[in-house]
Amino acid sequence: MLHEYDLTQLIQPLCGWFLQNARKLPWRDDPTPYHVWVSEIMLQQTRVEAVKSYYTRFIKALPDVTALAQCEEDVYLKLWEGLGYYSRVRNLHAAAVQIMQEYDGRIPDDYGTLLKLKGIGSYTAGAIASLAYEKPEPAVDGNVLRVLARVSADDTDILDPGFKKETERLLRELLKECCSSPKDTEPEDAGKESARRDGSEKAEIPSISPRIFNQALMELGALVCVPNGAPNCEICPWRDLCLARKMQLTDKLPVRAKKKERRKEEKTILLIRDGDKIALHKRPSKGLLAGLYEFPNKQGHLSESQVISLVRDMGYSPLRIKRLADSVHIFSHVEWHMIGYSVLVEEEAFATKEQKQRAAMEELVFADAGEQKEHYALPSAFAAYRKDI
Ligand code: ADE
Repeated sequence: MLHEYDLTQLIQPLCGWFLQNARKLPWRDDPTPYHVWVSEIMLQQTRVEAVKSYYTRFIKALPDVTALAQCEEDVYLKLWEGLGYYSRVRNLHAAAVQIMQEYDGRIPDDYGTLLKLKGIGSYTAGAIASLAYEKPEPAVDGNVLRVLARVSADDTDILDPGFKKETERLLRELLKECCSSPKDTEPEDAGKESARRDGSEKAEIPSISPRIFNQALMELGALVCVPNGAPNCEICPWRDLCLARKMQLTDKLPVRAKKKERRKEEKTILLIRDGDKIALHKRPSKGLLAGLYEFPNKQGHLSESQVISLVRDMGYSPLRIKRLADSVHIFSHVEWHMIGYSVLVEEEAFATKEQKQRAAMEELVFADAGEQKEHYALPSAFAAYRKDI
């Protein structure tokens, strides 16, 4: 079990391995609090390879907290388009405003203060405090829970919030115990035995740089002790210390309770065309995909004739209709099972006054492919229909 396992023995092999094997990643070049914050938020639920180009573009467009706080919703949503979990960027923006108003534009270095910011939970607070400010705080995500459950052969459900809390407590204790202050630690000293310079009785405890240690744990989870498929135990710095390996339990650990089944929703997606323009609708400011744009759509799978009368009710005159391919999009809690229609409507110039009024009530914007690409953030859920624009 994790609480019975001697964590100090893990430090030196882990940090030594990391210094030899760390990937070169854009956010590691200059780990300012802002860079760490943005990258860690992007990396939640998203693969490193997918994040790289988004991160670089985001930092170029919004290089600091001030720029982010001043950014318009449609602009930051566009920068996030395709990454998913859009509440992340909405919270990032809200927290930037909070930092300008309450902290004079400086991202706090204190774990407890960071936790008060919108969208910042224990993982992100720990990551900013440790990676940017070298504070002895843990940053525990699913990767860290997995590698620690395996090395200590702990069969607790890693999705149990109690296990995460306990892991954070143990790592915080370890970091506080084994950390030298930032100025004592040269990067090349990190993880070496006896890095303490005062020759105190703690000399036998390896000294940790919180930045190196926390990143090393994440890196081990990403490159060696991987979540899907067999872990690469032969190259693991903990191969002789790992109880799951010793007990041949690596395929059984970690234990993860089954998640609830996702809800299934049927939808009909409408590509309403007027010449070379296509209708888009801004989603409400609350709920799934808040504030993003979508193709107009309705609950259920509608027939061609139902779509024609619906489009008429919306204030447009359908000229031609074509069924598009079916598509499925999976969110964390819900699945959309979509059918689609392309509907060519009469040019606006020919619409009656009443049709125009009804159309205005639908609050659609008509954009050509170039405008859509440039200005309107359309989530990946609609990707299958975007190619039909
Ligand atoms: N996953 C989460 N945070 C990460 C980081 N800083 N580097 C690499 N992978 C990560």
